Amino acid sequence: MNQLNVKRHRRLRKNAFMRDLVRETHLHTDDLIYPLFIVEGENVRNPVASMPGIEQISIDYVIPEVQELIDLGIKGVLLFGVPNEKDSVGSGAYDEMGVVQKAIKTIKSEVPEMLVIADTCLCEYTNHGHCGIVVDGDVANDSSLELHVKTAVSQAKAGADIIAPSNMMDGFVASIRKGLDENGFSNVPIMSYAVKYASSFYGPFRDAADSAPQFGDRKTYQMDPANRLEALREAETDVEEGADFLIVKPGMPYMDIIRDVKNAFHVPIVAYNVSGEYSMVKAAALNGWIDERKVVMEMLTGLKRAGADILITYFAKDVAKWLKE
Ligand code: PBG
Ligand code: ZN
Repeated sequence: MNQLNVKRHRRLRKNAFMRDLVRETHLHTDDLIYPLFIVEGENVRNPVASMPGIEQISIDYVIPEVQELIDLGIKGVLLFGVPNEKDSVGSGAYDEMGVVQKAIKTIKSEVPEMLVIADTCLCEYTNHGHCGIVVDGDVANDSSLELHVKTAVSQAKAGADIIAPSNMMDGFVASIRKGLDENGFSNVPIMSYAVKYASSFYGPFRDAADSAPQFGDRKTYQMDPANRLEALREAETDVEEGADFLIVKPGMPYMDIIRDVKNAFHVPIVAYNVSGEYSMVKAAALNGWIDERKVVMEMLTGLKRAGADILITYFAKDVAKWLKE
Protein backbone atom coordinates (compact mmCIF):
# COMPACT_ATOMS: atom_id res chain seq x y z
CA MET A 1 0.00 0.00 0.00
CA ASN A 2 2.83 2.38 0.85
CA GLN A 3 4.01 2.67 -2.75
CA LEU A 4 0.50 4.01 -3.58
CA ASN A 5 1.30 7.06 -1.45
CA VAL A 6 -2.21 7.08 0.04
CA LYS A 7 -2.94 10.28 1.96
CA ARG A 8 -3.99 9.05 5.42
CA HIS A 9 -6.59 11.66 6.48
CA ARG A 10 -8.09 9.17 8.90
CA ARG A 11 -4.99 9.45 11.10
CA LEU A 12 -6.39 12.65 12.57
CA ARG A 13 -9.80 11.09 13.20
CA LYS A 14 -8.48 8.04 15.01
CA ASN A 15 -10.17 8.63 18.38
CA ALA A 16 -12.07 11.27 20.31
CA PHE A 17 -8.95 12.86 21.84
CA MET A 18 -7.36 13.22 18.43
CA ARG A 19 -10.54 14.71 17.00
CA ASP A 20 -10.80 17.14 19.92
CA LEU A 21 -7.20 18.18 19.31
CA VAL A 22 -7.72 19.08 15.67
CA ARG A 23 -11.25 20.52 15.85
CA GLU A 24 -11.41 23.88 14.06
CA THR A 25 -14.74 25.31 15.20
CA HIS A 26 -16.21 25.53 18.69
CA LEU A 27 -19.58 26.59 20.00
CA HIS A 28 -19.46 28.70 23.15
CA THR A 29 -22.27 29.84 25.39
CA ASP A 30 -20.64 33.30 25.24
CA ASP A 31 -21.62 33.56 21.58
CA LEU A 32 -25.35 32.99 22.06
CA ILE A 33 -28.16 35.53 22.02
CA TYR A 34 -31.66 34.46 23.05
CA PRO A 35 -34.76 36.23 21.67
CA LEU A 36 -37.63 37.10 24.04
CA PHE A 37 -41.21 38.04 23.10
CA ILE A 38 -42.69 40.40 25.66
CA VAL A 39 -46.43 41.01 26.06
CA GLU A 40 -48.41 43.47 28.17
CA GLY A 41 -50.18 42.40 31.34
CA GLU A 42 -49.25 40.13 34.21
CA ASN A 43 -48.96 36.44 34.69
CA VAL A 44 -49.01 35.75 30.96
CA ARG A 45 -47.18 32.87 29.33
CA ASN A 46 -48.55 32.20 25.86
CA PRO A 47 -46.98 29.24 24.10
CA VAL A 48 -46.31 30.02 20.44
CA ALA A 49 -48.02 27.15 18.60
CA SER A 50 -45.64 27.12 15.65
CA MET A 51 -42.52 27.28 17.88
CA PRO A 52 -42.68 24.47 20.47
CA GLY A 53 -40.83 25.53 23.63
CA ILE A 54 -41.12 29.27 22.93
CA GLU A 55 -43.57 31.51 24.79
CA GLN A 56 -44.65 35.11 24.83
CA ILE A 57 -44.15 36.31 28.40
CA SER A 58 -45.34 39.30 30.41
CA ILE A 59 -42.88 41.61 32.16
CA ASP A 60 -43.29 39.95 35.58
CA TYR A 61 -41.86 36.75 34.07
CA VAL A 62 -38.95 38.52 32.43
CA ILE A 63 -36.69 38.65 35.50
CA PRO A 64 -36.88 34.94 36.37
CA GLU A 65 -36.32 34.22 32.68
CA VAL A 66 -33.28 36.48 32.46
CA GLN A 67 -31.93 35.07 35.73
CA GLU A 68 -32.18 31.56 34.27
CA LEU A 69 -30.27 32.74 31.19
CA ILE A 70 -27.53 34.29 33.35
CA ASP A 71 -27.24 31.05 35.33
CA LEU A 72 -26.78 29.21 32.04
CA GLY A 73 -24.03 31.65 31.03
CA ILE A 74 -25.97 33.40 28.25
CA LYS A 75 -24.86 37.03 27.94
CA GLY A 76 -27.45 38.65 25.65
CA VAL A 77 -31.19 38.83 25.04
CA LEU A 78 -32.90 40.25 21.96
CA LEU A 79 -36.21 41.86 22.85
CA PHE A 80 -39.35 41.92 20.71
CA GLY A 81 -42.48 43.66 22.00
CA VAL A 82 -46.01 42.51 21.31
CA PRO A 83 -48.20 45.49 22.24
CA ASN A 84 -51.93 45.39 22.99
CA GLU A 85 -52.69 48.22 20.61
CA LYS A 86 -51.44 48.91 17.12
CA ASP A 87 -51.92 51.91 14.84
CA SER A 88 -50.86 53.04 11.38
CA VAL A 89 -47.69 54.77 12.63
CA GLY A 90 -46.56 52.17 15.18
CA SER A 91 -46.77 54.55 18.16
CA GLY A 92 -46.14 51.73 20.63
CA ALA A 93 -42.61 51.30 19.27
CA TYR A 94 -41.44 54.70 20.53
CA ASP A 95 -43.70 55.09 23.58
CA GLU A 96 -41.63 55.68 26.72
CA MET A 97 -44.01 53.36 28.52
CA GLY A 98 -44.08 50.86 25.65
CA VAL A 99 -43.81 47.17 26.39
CA VAL A 100 -40.17 46.89 25.30
CA GLN A 101 -39.12 50.09 27.06
CA LYS A 102 -40.64 48.76 30.30
CA ALA A 103 -38.95 45.39 29.83
CA ILE A 104 -35.56 47.02 29.20
CA LYS A 105 -35.86 49.14 32.35
CA THR A 106 -36.88 46.13 34.42
CA ILE A 107 -34.01 43.98 33.21
CA LYS A 108 -31.38 46.71 33.56
CA SER A 109 -32.48 47.52 37.11
CA GLU A 110 -32.74 43.92 38.34
CA VAL A 111 -30.09 42.07 36.31
CA PRO A 112 -27.81 44.85 35.05
CA GLU A 113 -25.09 42.54 33.75
CA MET A 114 -27.36 41.05 31.06
CA LEU A 115 -26.76 42.67 27.66
CA VAL A 116 -30.10 43.93 26.44
CA ILE A 117 -30.39 44.15 22.67
CA ALA A 118 -33.45 46.00 21.40
CA ASP A 119 -34.89 45.03 18.03
CA THR A 120 -35.75 48.33 16.37
CA CYS A 121 -38.67 47.98 13.99
CA LEU A 122 -42.28 48.99 13.60
CA CYS A 123 -43.89 45.81 12.26
CA GLU A 124 -45.05 44.54 15.66
CA TYR A 125 -46.63 47.94 16.34
CA THR A 126 -48.33 48.85 13.05
CA ASN A 127 -51.86 47.71 12.25
CA HIS A 128 -50.78 46.98 8.66
CA GLY A 129 -47.82 44.92 9.86
CA HIS A 130 -45.19 46.65 7.72
CA CYS A 131 -41.80 47.80 9.01
CA GLY A 132 -42.46 51.48 8.24
CA ILE A 133 -45.22 53.93 7.34
CA VAL A 134 -47.36 53.05 4.35
CA VAL A 135 -47.98 55.80 1.78
CA ASP A 136 -49.91 55.00 -1.41
CA GLY A 137 -49.58 51.28 -0.78
CA ASP A 138 -45.81 51.31 -0.40
CA VAL A 139 -43.53 51.62 2.63
CA ALA A 140 -42.16 55.17 2.61
CA ASN A 141 -38.44 55.31 3.28
CA ASP A 142 -37.44 58.65 4.76
CA SER A 143 -40.52 59.34 6.85
CA SER A 144 -40.26 55.82 8.29
CA LEU A 145 -36.65 56.52 9.25
CA GLU A 146 -37.72 59.31 11.57
CA LEU A 147 -39.85 56.83 13.50
CA HIS A 148 -37.08 54.25 13.63
CA VAL A 149 -34.77 56.90 15.06
CA LYS A 150 -37.38 57.81 17.69
CA THR A 151 -37.73 54.12 18.53
CA ALA A 152 -33.97 53.57 18.86
CA VAL A 153 -33.52 56.65 21.03
CA SER A 154 -36.39 55.65 23.33
CA GLN A 155 -34.87 52.17 23.67
CA ALA A 156 -31.46 53.66 24.49
CA LYS A 157 -33.10 55.98 27.04
CA ALA A 158 -34.71 52.95 28.66
CA GLY A 159 -31.23 51.47 29.01
CA ALA A 160 -30.70 49.20 25.98
CA ASP A 161 -27.07 48.15 25.61
CA ILE A 162 -27.26 47.52 21.85
CA ILE A 163 -29.67 48.80 19.19
CA ALA A 164 -30.55 46.23 16.53
CA PRO A 165 -32.48 47.86 13.68
CA SER A 166 -34.23 45.29 11.46
CA ASN A 167 -36.36 47.50 9.24
CA MET A 168 -34.25 47.45 6.02
CA MET A 169 -35.01 51.07 5.03
CA ASP A 170 -32.20 52.83 3.15
CA GLY A 171 -30.09 54.95 5.47
CA PHE A 172 -31.32 53.36 8.69
CA VAL A 173 -27.88 52.94 10.22
CA ALA A 174 -26.76 56.49 9.40
CA SER A 175 -29.92 58.07 10.76
CA ILE A 176 -30.05 55.94 13.91
CA ARG A 177 -26.34 56.57 14.57
CA LYS A 178 -26.95 60.31 14.26
CA GLY A 179 -30.02 60.17 16.49
CA LEU A 180 -28.22 58.18 19.17
CA ASP A 181 -25.18 60.49 19.09
CA GLU A 182 -27.31 63.64 19.32
CA ASN A 183 -29.07 62.25 22.36
CA GLY A 184 -25.95 61.35 24.28
CA PHE A 185 -25.75 57.69 23.29
CA SER A 186 -22.58 57.72 21.24
CA ASN A 187 -21.41 54.67 23.19
CA VAL A 188 -24.41 52.53 22.32
CA PRO A 189 -23.46 50.18 19.46
CA ILE A 190 -25.60 49.31 16.45
CA MET A 191 -26.08 45.66 15.53
CA SER A 192 -27.46 46.07 12.04
CA TYR A 193 -29.69 43.57 10.32
CA ALA A 194 -27.65 44.56 7.27
CA VAL A 195 -28.33 41.48 5.17
CA LYS A 196 -31.94 40.50 5.65
CA TYR A 197 -33.66 38.44 3.00
CA ALA A 198 -37.39 38.45 2.21
CA SER A 199 -37.62 34.92 3.57
CA SER A 200 -40.44 32.46 4.14
CA PHE A 201 -38.49 31.15 7.11
CA TYR A 202 -39.90 34.03 9.20
CA GLY A 203 -43.40 32.53 9.27
CA PRO A 204 -43.42 31.22 12.86
CA PHE A 205 -41.87 34.47 14.15
CA ARG A 206 -44.78 36.41 12.70
CA ASP A 207 -47.09 34.26 14.85
CA ALA A 208 -44.89 34.86 17.90
CA ALA A 209 -44.64 38.61 17.32
CA ASP A 210 -48.04 39.04 15.70
CA SER A 211 -46.32 40.97 12.93
CA ALA A 212 -47.41 39.51 9.60
CA PRO A 213 -47.98 42.13 6.89
CA GLN A 214 -51.73 42.60 6.40
CA PHE A 215 -51.30 43.22 2.67
CA GLY A 216 -48.54 42.55 0.20
CA ASP A 217 -45.13 41.36 1.34
CA ARG A 218 -41.76 42.84 2.36
CA LYS A 219 -40.03 42.41 -1.00
CA THR A 220 -39.57 46.13 -1.64
CA TYR A 221 -37.35 46.43 1.43
CA GLN A 222 -36.02 42.97 2.32
CA MET A 223 -33.62 41.30 -0.11
CA ASP A 224 -34.20 38.83 -2.92
CA PRO A 225 -33.04 35.36 -1.75
CA ALA A 226 -31.37 34.85 -5.13
CA ASN A 227 -28.85 37.68 -4.66
CA ARG A 228 -25.30 37.60 -3.40
CA LEU A 229 -23.65 40.84 -4.57
CA GLU A 230 -26.57 42.76 -3.16
CA ALA A 231 -25.65 41.40 0.27
CA LEU A 232 -22.18 42.88 -0.05
CA ARG A 233 -23.62 46.24 -1.13
CA GLU A 234 -25.99 46.28 1.85
CA ALA A 235 -23.25 45.30 4.29
CA GLU A 236 -20.80 47.84 2.86
CA THR A 237 -23.30 50.67 3.23
CA ASP A 238 -24.04 49.75 6.82
CA VAL A 239 -20.37 49.54 7.78
CA GLU A 240 -19.77 52.97 6.18
CA GLU A 241 -22.77 54.34 8.07
CA GLY A 242 -21.39 53.09 11.37
CA ALA A 243 -22.68 49.58 12.04
CA ASP A 244 -20.73 47.88 14.84
CA PHE A 245 -22.06 44.38 14.10
CA LEU A 246 -23.52 42.91 10.91
CA ILE A 247 -26.38 40.40 11.01
CA VAL A 248 -27.06 37.93 8.22
CA LYS A 249 -30.58 36.55 8.32
CA PRO A 250 -31.78 33.78 7.94
CA GLY A 251 -28.78 31.61 8.79
CA MET A 252 -28.78 28.11 7.38
CA PRO A 253 -29.94 28.77 3.79
CA TYR A 254 -27.49 31.70 3.55
CA MET A 255 -24.20 30.25 4.79
CA ASP A 256 -22.39 31.36 1.63
CA ILE A 257 -23.44 34.92 2.39
CA ILE A 258 -22.19 34.63 5.97
CA ARG A 259 -18.79 33.62 4.60
CA ASP A 260 -18.75 36.42 2.01
CA VAL A 261 -19.58 39.04 4.62
CA LYS A 262 -17.08 37.59 7.11
CA ASN A 263 -14.30 37.77 4.52
CA ALA A 264 -15.12 41.29 3.39
CA PHE A 265 -15.68 43.16 6.66
CA HIS A 266 -13.87 43.34 9.95
CA VAL A 267 -16.71 43.68 12.40
CA PRO A 268 -18.34 40.86 14.40
CA ILE A 269 -20.69 38.85 12.20
CA VAL A 270 -23.97 37.64 13.63
CA ALA A 271 -26.06 34.84 12.13
CA TYR A 272 -29.77 34.82 12.95
CA ASN A 273 -30.93 31.20 13.08
CA VAL A 274 -34.54 32.22 12.49
CA SER A 275 -37.90 30.90 13.60
CA GLY A 276 -38.52 28.67 10.55
CA GLU A 277 -35.13 27.02 11.01
CA TYR A 278 -36.04 26.37 14.65
CA SER A 279 -39.51 25.04 13.91
CA MET A 280 -38.34 22.67 11.17
CA VAL A 281 -35.86 21.04 13.52
CA LYS A 282 -38.39 20.92 16.38
CA ALA A 283 -41.08 19.37 14.22
CA ALA A 284 -38.78 16.68 12.91
CA ALA A 285 -37.44 15.99 16.40
CA LEU A 286 -40.93 15.77 17.93
CA ASN A 287 -41.76 13.20 15.28
CA GLY A 288 -38.70 11.20 16.24
CA TRP A 289 -37.22 11.66 12.77
CA ILE A 290 -33.96 13.29 13.83
CA ASP A 291 -31.85 13.54 16.97
CA GLU A 292 -32.58 17.09 18.10
CA ARG A 293 -29.47 17.64 20.16
CA LYS A 294 -27.07 16.36 17.53
CA VAL A 295 -28.80 18.19 14.70
CA VAL A 296 -28.89 21.49 16.59
CA MET A 297 -25.22 21.29 17.53
CA GLU A 298 -24.28 20.44 13.96
CA MET A 299 -26.41 23.25 12.51
CA LEU A 300 -25.02 25.89 14.87
CA THR A 301 -21.44 24.67 14.49
CA GLY A 302 -21.98 24.95 10.74
CA LEU A 303 -23.08 28.56 11.10
CA LYS A 304 -19.93 29.34 13.07
CA ARG A 305 -17.75 27.50 10.56
CA ALA A 306 -19.39 29.57 7.80
CA GLY A 307 -18.08 32.67 9.56
CA ALA A 308 -20.56 33.72 12.23
CA ASP A 309 -18.98 35.01 15.44
CA ILE A 310 -22.29 35.30 17.26
CA LEU A 311 -25.53 33.32 16.94
CA ILE A 312 -29.05 34.53 17.63
CA THR A 313 -31.01 31.34 18.24
CA TYR A 314 -34.15 30.05 19.90
CA PHE A 315 -32.05 27.00 20.84
CA ALA A 316 -29.71 29.10 23.02
CA LYS A 317 -30.94 27.70 26.35
CA ASP A 318 -30.75 24.09 25.17
CA VAL A 319 -27.28 24.60 23.76
CA ALA A 320 -26.05 26.27 26.94
CA LYS A 321 -27.35 23.30 28.96
CA TRP A 322 -25.76 20.77 26.61
CA LEU A 323 -22.43 22.59 26.68
CA LYS A 324 -22.45 22.41 30.49
CA GLU A 325 -22.89 18.62 30.55
C1 PBG B 1 -38.97 42.13 11.31
C2 PBG B 1 -38.31 40.94 11.92
C3 PBG B 1 -38.41 39.65 11.38
C4 PBG B 1 -37.72 38.79 12.23
C5 PBG B 1 -37.17 39.57 13.24
N1 PBG B 1 -37.55 40.91 13.03
C6 PBG B 1 -38.94 39.13 10.14
C7 PBG B 1 -40.06 39.70 9.41
O1 PBG B 1 -41.21 39.52 9.83
O2 PBG B 1 -39.81 40.27 8.35
C8 PBG B 1 -37.62 37.33 12.01
C9 PBG B 1 -37.09 36.50 13.07
C10 PBG B 1 -37.39 35.06 12.99
O3 PBG B 1 -38.00 34.55 12.03
O4 PBG B 1 -36.99 34.37 13.93
N2 PBG B 1 -38.52 43.34 11.68
ZN1 ZN C 1 -40.11 44.83 10.91
